Amino acid sequence: MSLTRRHVLGGVSAAGLLSGLQAQAADDGLRTHAAANGRFFGSAVDANSVSGDKALMAQEIIECALLGGEDAFKWDTLHPGKDVYNFADGDALVKFAQKQKLGVRGHTMLWHKAMPDWLVKSLNSTNAAGLLQTHIQHVMGHFAGKMLQWDVANEVLEPADKLPGGYRDTPWFRALGPQMLDIAFNAAAQADPGALLLLNEYGLEYAWDVHKAKRERVLNLLSELKSRGVPIGGLGMQSHLEAGVPELDQNMLRQFCADVGALGFKIVITEFDVRDNRITGDVNTRDQAVAAHGRAYLDAVLDAPNVMGVVSWGLSDKHTWLNHDYPRADKQLQRALPLDDQLQRTPLWYAIAGAFDAAPKIG
Ligand code: G3I
Repeated sequence: MSLTRRHVLGGVSAAGLLSGLQAQAADDGLRTHAAANGRFFGSAVDANSVSGDKALMAQEIIECALLGGEDAFKWDTLHPGKDVYNFADGDALVKFAQKQKLGVRGHTMLWHKAMPDWLVKSLNSTNAAGLLQTHIQHVMGHFAGKMLQWDVANEVLEPADKLPGGYRDTPWFRALGPQMLDIAFNAAAQADPGALLLLNEYGLEYAWDVHKAKRERVLNLLSELKSRGVPIGGLGMQSHLEAGVPELDQNMLRQFCADVGALGFKIVITEFDVRDNRITGDVNTRDQAVAAHGRAYLDAVLDAPNVMGVVSWGLSDKHTWLNHDYPRADKQLQRALPLDDQLQRTPLWYAIAGAFDAAPKIG
């Protein structure tokens, strides 16, 4: 039985999810540990790996119940010219996933990055709504029925920009204001009514003032969107973590997830990885610190019944954005994901499996 959208989207019915996944998983992959807990595990994957890394994709099938496009579903990939669409990467991912009976998640329709040059140059307050609606209708319509989830809007909040409502100062916000979310989510719900539609944010994870401010803003925004009848299903917590950060407060995380749930929203951990720039020492020392930090975070968020599952931002250290954006001072490769660069399970893998095994079952 395939992992049907109803199982994953309709409040995570454990029976359906469990039977769907157990029937498929031939190994003790993270997907199996997650399914036994009534949740899912997945990972984002880059287009080059889908087309050219058979070894990694073989591990994806063992470890993941759903796959996300790291870049396949972004504007610059999908819509490189005003009247030019390129679905190749997305279609390849969907084709692979469907063949292997895996779910797919899309990322993202409204973001201040990955905007193609033509869009940046042409966007204005007159045409912005039409451009956004046309893009979403065309792209999400193309993939309609094949996607479990979409990060419809990504990183729209930045309290440091001092705009009313804590919005990020972006071309979209300057053109449309807060209505950009109403436009995006309404278009998304019309284009693919069966997908879970998420607002995706980072910077929510630690007991830091800036993260506290963003958590408060997220809760206010979710409440505002709900009151406006915006068809949003949940919050994506990116969860880009850093081992060694002492301000990991499990009770704060539990409370935040509960507050989101109290508003009636699901949560997906959407971009989980644990960088270790702060950790010196040998690989084992680093791996143990990464695993302990990741486990502490997951133990907290998986206590919340509205947390549906965990998606890592990459499955193997063979490919992680971190080596480009957060290179270690000692030039060692990052070890931030469940599989190392040789596709071997790391201590973080066991930490993730253990967190699913220990968490209260849902569904
Ligand atoms: O595909 C082109 C290729 O044709 C070209 O030759 C090459 C050099 O210019 O660029 C390639 O596109 C790159 C793309 O990744 C695919 O590799 C873009 O330049 C590069 O900016 C893009 O980086 C991605 C970044 O988001 C920006 O979209 C990273 O892979 C991706 O890991 C990162 O992911 C983000 C999430 O979307 C949102 N949350 C944070 C996360 C990490 O930054």
